[in-house]
Amino acid sequence: MPTTASYDAIIIGAGAAGMFCAALAGQRGRRVLLLDHSAEPGRKILISGGGRCNFTNIGATADNYLSANPHFAKSAMRRYTPADFIALVDRYGIAWHEKTLGQLFCDGSAKQIVAMLLDECAAGAVTTAFGNAATVEHRDGRFHVSFGTEAAEAPALVLASGGLSIPKLGATSFAYDVARRFGVKIVEPRPALVPLTLSGDEALFKTLSGVSAEVVASAGKGKFREAALFTHRGLSGPAILQVSSYWRHGDEVSIDFLPDFPAGWLRQAKRDDPRIGIRRLLARSLPDRLAETLADQLALGSDLGNIPDRSLEAAERRLADWRFTPNGSEGFAKAEVTIGGISTDELSSQTMEAKRVPGLYAIGEAVDVTGWLGGYNFQWAWASGHAAAQAL
Ligand code: FDA
Repeated sequence: MPTTASYDAIIIGAGAAGMFCAALAGQRGRRVLLLDHSAEPGRKILISGGGRCNFTNIGATADNYLSANPHFAKSAMRRYTPADFIALVDRYGIAWHEKTLGQLFCDGSAKQIVAMLLDECAAGAVTTAFGNAATVEHRDGRFHVSFGTEAAEAPALVLASGGLSIPKLGATSFAYDVARRFGVKIVEPRPALVPLTLSGDEALFKTLSGVSAEVVASAGKGKFREAALFTHRGLSGPAILQVSSYWRHGDEVSIDFLPDFPAGWLRQAKRDDPRIGIRRLLARSLPDRLAETLADQLALGSDLGNIPDRSLEAAERRLADWRFTPNGSEGFAKAEVTIGGISTDELSSQTMEAKRVPGLYAIGEAVDVTGWLGGYNFQWAWASGHAAAQAL
């Protein structure tokens, strides 16, 4: 029988949320054990932002998150802000830049963020054990955890093992499984920030594979102005990833291909240049191949001068609200995040502790709080990790 080491808190999952929470709790004098089944901590951080980690968004507020309870993230987000994380990054001398839309990336490498989090854990004297799966039991109000040949126990257990996205990188349903065993509800997990797939008539857009354009894409309550990318399977690019979080099977996705064009622009173009054709006109503002495909679909015929105004108005409406019905998404294998997860009804928004299970906490992506694309998900990992660490 292995001897059982005692801690104040055991944190399972050494990703963004788990490492940060462990570091802060350790620095508050708590004896913390941080476990991960993967031998390497922070694997998602390492590949995030194309290897440069989009570690926060300067504009992040609770409005940038999806959750069954849109108010849940407010308290944690207010108490640990993007400015707080930037101050930490600055303290480590990690150079960064704003790429676009408030998204902050390392100038160098995401490895700097992982190294910083591990240094912070060391500053908090956190004990780490990576490379073994853990099993959890609850006895006499304490959590008993076995991993490899070792065992540990603590009055607090933090579920920080993330969601289901990218199983190849070590994602598992561990947090949900443990939560369920304690009777804690789960909001059905779905892939989000994920490319959408097209079939049938819309498959013809696959011939545009590789073409991208700045559009306004909408699905459900989500509406985003960013680049959309056609792929050999369907639609991707930031605008599509963003709306995928709001999309459900059977929903349409609408794309405005010319968001800067005022109502009546096609009729005006007809008056200004009656001999121009729609394809050449579209090619002034859109990539050639996209202009050609859209013009073929509109099937307006020759010069604008010969086309009735009514047809031009209809074409204009279609270009501003082009409907696609995706037949699915590329699933958890390609999804940047998981929407859904441990129900916020079950947790204190102040501390992330389960209301019905004293000592059980959940943070990061394991919780039903999902950010937009652009540094929001890491900011939630930091903020929720911070909230729990203050309570441990
Ligand atoms: P995270 O997934 O980081 O960590 C969970 C940890 O738990 C992992 O180390 C895993 O090995 C471990 N684990 C899982 N199951 C376990 C088990 N059974 N036992 C023990 N350990 C277990 N966000 C953002 O804000 N900016 C960005 O640039 C990007 N970029 C990006 C790119 C790609 C390709 C992906 C897939 C995702 C992003 N994200 C992102 C999203 C971001 O990576 C994600 O939201 C956070 O990493 C979530 O942090 P967590 O700590 O909650 O989970």
